Amino acid sequence: MKKILAIALAAVMAASLAACSSSSSAPAATTAAAATTAAATEAPKTEAPATEAAKTEAPATEAAKTEAPATEAPKTEASAEKPAAKYDSSKITTITPGKLTLATSPDFAPYEFYAIDKDGTPHLAGFDMSLAQYIADYLGLELEVIPMDFDGTIMELTQKNVDMSMAGYSITEERKEVMDFSIVYYGGAQSFVTVESKKDLFPDLAAANKADLTIGAQVGSIQAGLAHDNCPDADIIEMAKVTDLIAELVTGKMDGAFIETAVAESYQKNYPELHIVCDVPFDSEGSAAGISKGNEELVKGVNAAIEECISSGQFDQFVEEAKALAEGEIIEGLIEE
Ligand code: ARG
Repeated sequence: MKKILAIALAAVMAASLAACSSSSSAPAATTAAAATTAAATEAPKTEAPATEAAKTEAPATEAAKTEAPATEAPKTEASAEKPAAKYDSSKITTITPGKLTLATSPDFAPYEFYAIDKDGTPHLAGFDMSLAQYIADYLGLELEVIPMDFDGTIMELTQKNVDMSMAGYSITEERKEVMDFSIVYYGGAQSFVTVESKKDLFPDLAAANKADLTIGAQVGSIQAGLAHDNCPDADIIEMAKVTDLIAELVTGKMDGAFIETAVAESYQKNYPELHIVCDVPFDSEGSAAGISKGNEELVKGVNAAIEECISSGQFDQFVEEAKALAEGEIIEGLIEE
């Protein structure tokens, strides 16, 4: 863990240096490389200090984490017992014994985002986070969530600095080379998004492929691939966070962006000026957890947990809760900004 935290600290500094150049256009490879180094642990200021991984909130029905930083919301069920594991996880090995270390990129409501508590404290929320807690409880492991930029989640998982990533991952052949995947837990669809005032520019997706248009996507995401494939002539801008793309769209600096449909619909609730132009074809089964390559026992355990979570109807409830929470007060973009 120490290693990741040190990297994260350095990255926070790199990220602040790189912040003002984030919207400049650059070839995909260069942008991806630059942003990967800038992948930062962006814990909210009022929450955990940068050197400490943020903890996920346990779902209301489960035990509250006992290690919450002092500035976090008061513990409501601190004395509750840790739920008994339902799975014999004795064969499962994780980076830190007894812990499930997980990367996420909380710019992706309703999958993962920072919701603001009644007392004004931001905390990690979203159905990926609820499912992550469910998996950890099922396996009898303590969950540790490390928030970072999306391409950072891929890098940390590839380098086996975390056991798992849950960040609305789409399964791709390229990613299968460097990580394993759980079963799919949520169907994904892709959209091309603009703002109401520009919707006439886009009678269809083909209209987005023009040299004078600025089209965005998240660094390291399959959407970046979609942008390059569908709009080779456009000025493609890759940004570290989906929330940055939303900000660029609503302030008129960007003409369109490729965004996961569920995410576009979620941010549309908070920014009604966002307009979903059309569905973008993408050949993928949906979202799955990324798991450290070769950790077969962990894959088995995670799949058993996900299966139970889905078949019991619990996962649907997580999705509903996350959607409702994402409509409330949430943190947009970088908390440090
Ligand atoms: N599903 C897309 C992908 O796997 C985007 C995921 C982005 N996730 C996030 N938390 N920002 O590439």
